[in-house]
Amino acid sequence: MQSPAQPRARALRDAFGTFGTGVTIVAATGEDGRPVGFTANSFASVSLEPPLLLVCPARGASSLPAIATTRRFAVHVLARAQRPLAERFSRRGADRFEGLVWAADRHGLPRIEGACARFACALEQTIEAGDHLVLIGRILEHESDLEAEPLLFVRGRYS
Ligand SMILES: Cc1cc2nc3c(=O)[nH]c(=O)nc-3n(C[C@H](O)[C@H](O)[C@H](O)COP(=O)(O)O)c2cc1C
Repeated sequence: MQSPAQPRARALRDAFGTFGTGVTIVAATGEDGRPVGFTANSFASVSLEPPLLLVCPARGASSLPAIATTRRFAVHVLARAQRPLAERFSRRGADRFEGLVWAADRHGLPRIEGACARFACALEQTIEAGDHLVLIGRILEHESDLEAEPLLFVRGRYS
């Protein structure tokens, strides 16, 4: 049964969804050394000097404990060819890194090959915001492939 709040949430989600975005995978390494991550389109650039970005994970996101304890995370801006990864990293329950080619960077963060851009970050600030958190990351290093076509997401569809 739907509660009255659900249609409102649906309508708000649909309204937010008219804003076209790129798609990222936010990744971190747990204290046990295992990589974790999730698909996120709440990414935004924040500041050039100092270099800052933000991303908004849900409060209950399974990757949060790893980010909170290590205070490190990496953001991968996905290429169009990486749509299957976007789908995989938004699916609950699955081991998202299983069978995936990845390596740890010099900060110990997972590095997924083939992204348009990648930012390795130190967690600078955590802001509580309703059912999500705003994570401000200070960019430790970044790389980009300016030839790669970015994956886009609008109105619930990839393109
Ligand atoms: C295109 C797309 C963008 C998403 N953006 C976000 C986001 O910005 N923040 C977030 O918390 N979840 C976002 N999600 C949902 C998460 O990827 C997914 O629900 C989450 O990883 C599952 O929760 P878990 O990691 O706790 O299993 C997005 C999903 C998709 C398909």
